[in-house]
Amino acid sequence: MQKYLVTGGAGFIGSNFVHYLLSKRKDCQVVNLDKLTYAGNLENLADLKMEARYQFVKGDIADEACVDQIFKSGIDVVVNFAAETHVDRSIENPTDFIKTDVYGTYVLLEAARRYGVKKFIQISTDEVYGSIEKGSFRETDPLMPRNPYSASKAGADRLAYSYWATYQLPVVITRASNNFGPYQYPEKFISLSVTNLLEGKTIPIYGDGRNVRDWLYVGDHCAAVDFLVDQGKDGEVYNVAGGNEKENIEIAKEMVCYLKGSQDSIQFVKDRLGHDRRYSLNADKLKVLGWKPKSSFLTALHETLDWYQKNEVWWKKIKSGKFKQYYQKQYELR
Ligand code: NAD
Ligand code: TYD
Repeated sequence: MQKYLVTGGAGFIGSNFVHYLLSKRKDCQVVNLDKLTYAGNLENLADLKMEARYQFVKGDIADEACVDQIFKSGIDVVVNFAAETHVDRSIENPTDFIKTDVYGTYVLLEAARRYGVKKFIQISTDEVYGSIEKGSFRETDPLMPRNPYSASKAGADRLAYSYWATYQLPVVITRASNNFGPYQYPEKFISLSVTNLLEGKTIPIYGDGRNVRDWLYVGDHCAAVDFLVDQGKDGEVYNVAGGNEKENIEIAKEMVCYLKGSQDSIQFVKDRLGHDRRYSLNADKLKVLGWKPKSSFLTALHETLDWYQKNEVWWKKIKSGKFKQYYQKQYELR
């Protein structure tokens, strides 16, 4: 029986991963450590209440005593998803990004070193490379993060590597591209856009809408992380790409078309400060190791839109709470 510590397991990718793990690996136990920030939601895991192999701990990855207590119970594998994740929020106030993404990762690495683990997966991001006009980033390219979110993730990414280089902690680092799918907090581009459309509101497109992201279905991301727990080589970085590079405007048009809305619901708004133009990954390293994504972009996007249509109760509750005050302010500022 392998015991996993999944941090940030009540968030978007983390909750998808906890589900993936418990259904795929019958021989595992999962401890989910999550602070339940605005982005953490136990409703994402409501179906696991009776699951004996699953345990939830409300706590902060930057809290040494709490983390120590968990490691004391015996942890084999750590998958660190916990982070502050929204670029726009990091531009407004970077404090929590440094505390969680950098210091929190340090606390986990120290505990993993003290107690010894078989694998420590650090979930980094393609954003650590910065923007690229042409071509695609490889794992060996220099990091050039350009906003406080990506800079804090780059700090954690290299700190994790240093624990391998210095202490031989068995660390594997993943750098995935933009995820989409069920349970994404409705502040990111696709989840905000679909829920806005379903509410009869507009999609706010930053700048000229021609910024490019490479979209990865969250189920594929979970499968890649699970694959790397067994197959990832210690001390190595792996890009995880969806292979679906799209301009934001193209995705907005597709969402409007699928949901039978009016193209007038696409509204161009003020650009994000320092808005990265294009993210692009070369994922050959992971392919050579034996993994590539399975989903077709359009099918996965349509399934995702269906999910938000069917799960209005989930996102309406979020959008009517603190979210409303926060976004009211954002719209007034634009
Ligand atoms: P999310 O914002 O939906 O979830 C983050 C989770 O972490 C929440 O449940 C939150 O409560 C928890 N958390 C925050 N601070 C914490 C702390 N101090 N202690 C414990 N828990 C804390 O984020 P997500 O989109 O699911 O991203 C998960 C990870 O994947 C992040 O590390 C992110 O950088 C990385 N990533 C995300 C994407 C993407 O497109 N969403 C792409 C590549 C990498
Ligand atoms: P986002 O989902 O915030 O992810 P990231 O910035 O981390 O890649 O944004 C994806 C793209 O969509 C990015 O180019 C910014 C753009 N965007 C909008 O045009 N409007 C929005 O309301 C949001 C949230 C993002």
